Amino acid sequence: CLMREDTPLLAGKTVTITAGPTREALDPVRFISNHSSGKMGFSLACAAKALGAKVNLISGPVNLTTPSEVNRFDVESAQQMHDAAMELAVNSDVFIGCAAVADYKATTTANNKIKKQGDTMTIELSKNPDIIASVAALEENRPFTVGFAAETNDVANYAKGKLKNKNLDMICANDVSDSSIGFNSENNAMTLFWPEGERHLSLQSKQQISHLILKEIASKLAAKK
Ligand code: CTP
Ligand code: CA
Repeated sequence: CLMREDTPLLAGKTVTITAGPTREALDPVRFISNHSSGKMGFSLACAAKALGAKVNLISGPVNLTTPSEVNRFDVESAQQMHDAAMELAVNSDVFIGCAAVADYKATTTANNKIKKQGDTMTIELSKNPDIIASVAALEENRPFTVGFAAETNDVANYAKGKLKNKNLDMICANDVSDSSIGFNSENNAMTLFWPEGERHLSLQSKQQISHLILKEIASKLAAKK
C-alpha cells in the first residue's frame, strides 16, 4: 500500500471488497474461470485501509499478498463468494464488488475425473447468484454498494444499465477492449457513474485510481448522512 492519507476519511467505517476470479469446478481436476488478476480489488483494499477503514477482502484464487491489516477471506466458487459476502455485507458501511464472478457454473460437478470420449462434448451450465445485486437488495443493513463493469463496447450504456438494474449506488466502468487497461494490467482508466452524475478518472496506476474511487465513495457516504 503506497498511499498514505492524512485525513482518515473512512475512520470507523467497514469496507468489504470482493476481488479476483472465481473457479467453478467441473470435476476434481478442472474448472471454469477467467483472467482476473485481483490487482484492482487488492488495490482498493489498500486504499480503503489508507483512509482508515476496517477492511474485509473476499478473494478468489489469486497470486497476491494480503495488504497489511486487511482481513482476507479466501473463496473459490461464486457460491462461496456469495455466502461470505452476504455474511460480511450486513456489518459493512461500504460493499465494493470488484471480483470477476463466473456468471455460470457447471450444473453438476463430477465426483471423478471426466474421461475423454467423443469428438465433441457439451457441458451444461447454470447461472450463479448475482452477488452484488443480492447485497444491494438487502432490506436491512444495506451498505453503500459499488459495482464494477468491464465492457468491450458501449461501455457507458452497459454500465448505467447495471447501475440501475442491480440497484447500485455507484459503478466503476472500464473499457477492456484496450489491453493497456483493466484485467492483468498495472494501470487503469475508468468512469464512475452514480444515479445523478459521473466522473472520469484518467489512465493511472491501479493504486492511484483506487485512492480516487475510495475518496469519492467517502464523500458520497458523508453526504448521505
Ligand atoms: N457480479 C456479481 N455476481 C455475479 C456477476 C457479477 O456480484 N454473479 C458483479 C461484479 O463483481 C461487478 C458487477 O456485478 O461488480 C458487474 O459484473 P459484470 O460481469 O460486468 O455484469 P453481469 O451482470 O455479470 O453482466 P454481463 O457479464 O452479462 O455483462
Ligand atoms: Ca458477468
